[in-house]
Amino acid sequence: MSTLEPFNLKGKVAVITGGAGLLGPEFAEALAGAGARVMLVDLHEEKGRKTAARVARTTAGSVCFHKADVSDPAAVDSLFKVVAKTFKRVDILVNAVIGVGKNHFGPLEDYTWEDWNHVMRVSVGSTFLCSKAAAALMKKKKSGVIINMGSIYGVVGADPRIYGKSGINSPAVYAASKGAILNLTRYLAVYLAPYGIRVNALSPGGVWNHQDPGFVKRYSARNPMNRMLLKEELRGSLLFLASQASSYVNGHNLMVDGGWTAW
Ligand SMILES: NC(=O)c1ccc[n+]([C@@H]2O[C@H](COP(=O)([O-])OP(=O)(O)OC[C@H]3O[C@@H](n4cnc5c(N)ncnc54)[C@H](O)[C@@H]3O)[C@@H](O)[C@H]2O)c1
Repeated sequence: MSTLEPFNLKGKVAVITGGAGLLGPEFAEALAGAGARVMLVDLHEEKGRKTAARVARTTAGSVCFHKADVSDPAAVDSLFKVVAKTFKRVDILVNAVIGVGKNHFGPLEDYTWEDWNHVMRVSVGSTFLCSKAAAALMKKKKSGVIINMGSIYGVVGADPRIYGKSGINSPAVYAASKGAILNLTRYLAVYLAPYGIRVNALSPGGVWNHQDPGFVKRYSARNPMNRMLLKEELRGSLLFLASQASSYVNGHNLMVDGGWTAW
């Protein structure tokens, strides 16, 4: 077998939740580019459809879109019924949705119970619901891969020094939801291993997305590599976890943070 063969996803089917967001399209590029048929799932229909069409064009792959609220058990149920009917299988699930509260970047003292519950339901709840539904299909083939999106803030606390006076902070519920997703990943990795299903997490550092220059400067100074992450730099790690190249990697949290958590 050639060195690159394990990365080949020909014949595989991938579902990416949060597919119309910042990172979903990168994941779609990586998986469709390696030969998988990809379904993007998101609340944003127009953005989702445009993204699917764009990725299909650039990768010459098969990419479609399905609108669903993945924090709703009934919607997740019908989503995976569509997946089963359309593809007869699912090999890869990427849980990349994030819940954002109404006053998400406010201080702890002002953070509401409603926002807390919303974020936990959307971020952690959707990971639970989609993993459960995908695993039921994967079990039939005795193989599958689930990748959950963690974050540096699932591992360490937010560093308030990088936010300056911008008012933009990372809320407590983000830390709690990411910590929950990381340990849910370990639980599922152990529980689903007998069925040939691997479950891992991918934890990026802050992705550059035209943020305020002061913030970018402070974030970069705090990072050993002195810069933010570029979204396309996640493609390789995602493909590694999604493919046979990581066939003995299970219950792992792959940090892609430039060394943020190394010092
Ligand atoms: N961008 C970063 O800097 C960064 C860093 C570390 C971790 N992450 C994680 O990576 C993942 C993707 O991040 P992103 O930057 O692409 O986020 P994003 O906000 O750009 O995209 C998230 C997508 O999820 C969709 N969504 C929200 N609620 C939904 C629901 N109930 N049902 C269906 N779709 C829903 C939104 O419409 C959006 O398109 C998240 O889990 C995030 O926490 C991101």
